[in-house]
This record gives sequence, structure tokens and C-alpha cells, in this order.
Amino acid sequence: MNDPKIIVALDFADSKQALEFARKTSPSQCRLKVGKELFTSCGPALVEQLVDSGYDVFLDLKFHDIPNTVQKAASVAAKLGVWMLNVHALGGSAMMQAAREGIEIVAQRPFLIAVTVLTSLSSQDLKDCGIDRSVPQLVDKLARNAIANGLDGVVCSAQEATALRRSIGSGALLVTPGIRPEWASRDDQQRIVTPQQALAAGASYLVIGRPITRHDDPAAALESIIASIG
Ligand code: C5P
Repeated sequence: MNDPKIIVALDFADSKQALEFARKTSPSQCRLKVGKELFTSCGPALVEQLVDSGYDVFLDLKFHDIPNTVQKAASVAAKLGVWMLNVHALGGSAMMQAAREGIEIVAQRPFLIAVTVLTSLSSQDLKDCGIDRSVPQLVDKLARNAIANGLDGVVCSAQEATALRRSIGSGALLVTPGIRPEWASRDDQQRIVTPQQALAAGASYLVIGRPITRHDDPAAALESIIASIG
């Protein structure tokens, strides 16, 4: 079965740009990620349009609320036909179980993954929140808890992938942003890895935005990355 490894981050402010991008590529080449900016701007109608065009959509809204609220939101997302959605692992075990129950509302449920520690946070930020673990220790703890509560995997940096594969096993999905082909600008990403390095480290899917979406020829940029990972 065709299983595109690249999830293109559609970090656009409006549906025109997002749909234009979707027309230039195809569902056999990539999956698409709709995040908070695009979703807040365009809402579920755009998600449905992308799904109807045949794309697998990762709805990246990082739910984090009381279990009942998250369960209901997860059900609505599942009914939109998304392929993947996510929650914050820090929402706790009951919230993750509720999200998992929420997506069972559809026959073919989406993948449900967890954000562990946002890559923008340092160990000092954790201390400020009253958490006395290092970032890697907390990532590992939260990832294990996500899997124990029925989630399919986690979002992580490719630099955490090797360690996480060891601790949460080969069946878990590792979805990694912060990917840059050698020819691309690093933009505001601090710790980048190439697509090949990320897959070698155990990543299941690569989230890539600007190197593709801001390229003069997005379709060519995507094709070149696909060719580089074989
Ligand atoms: O353009 P770029 O490839 O940097 O986009 C990466 C995407 O992955 C963005 O949508 C960003 O919000 C998301 N992301 C990230 N780092 C994380 C989690 C998500 O860059 N730790």
C-alpha cells in the first residue's frame, strides 16, 4: 500500500493558499497537516475539502482540556474524516483515554498521537512550572504514559527518536517535525535533521513545512525530498 512518509505542514493563513498547494501535489505523494492558524481561519470546511480531495489530513490542534471536552472534540474530528489527530500528554491519563474513546465513534478511527514536551520548552521552563525532571526524562515518561493509555504514538524531535524507539517499541508512531533537507534554510528551527537522518533514527512520518510550501516550486521540492528518501 502507498504510505507517503511526508506530512506537509500547511501553515497558511487562508484556504486559497492551502487548496492551491493541494492541487499542485497529490495524496499519493504526501499527507497534509492542518494546524491552529489555518483551522482557526478556515474551520472544518477546509479539512473536509482536503479529505474529499483524497488527502490524509493530520489535524494538529493539540487538544488539552478536561476529559469530557477532549472526548467530544476528538469525536468531531474523527467524524470529519481526519487521518490523525493529537492531544497533549500532559492532559493526563483520563484525558488520553477519553480521546481514545472519542475517536472510536467512526468505523475506521484516526491515529491518535501525543505531544510530550513542546520543543520550545527548556528544563528551566519546566522548573518554572514546578516540574523537576529534565526535558528528555519528561519526554520519556510522557511518551510511555501515552502508549499505556492506548495512543498510537507521539510527536517528537528526530533527535529523540532513537531513545523513544527503545523505550516505547517498534509499533509506536513517531511523527517528527524540525526536518530540513541539506539545501533548505533552517528558518527558526534550532535542532534540525535531514529527512534521511530522521527515518534512520526511527521516525515514522516527517512533518515538513516551509522547505516545501515556501519553495518557488513546491511540487519539485516535495519530489526532490521523496527521491532523497527512496
Ligand atoms: O516550516 P517547518 O518545517 O519548520 O514547519 C514545521 C511544522 O511542525 C510547523 O507546523 C510547526 O508548528 C510544527 N512543529 C514544530 N515543532 C514541534 C511541533 C510541531 O515545528 N515541536
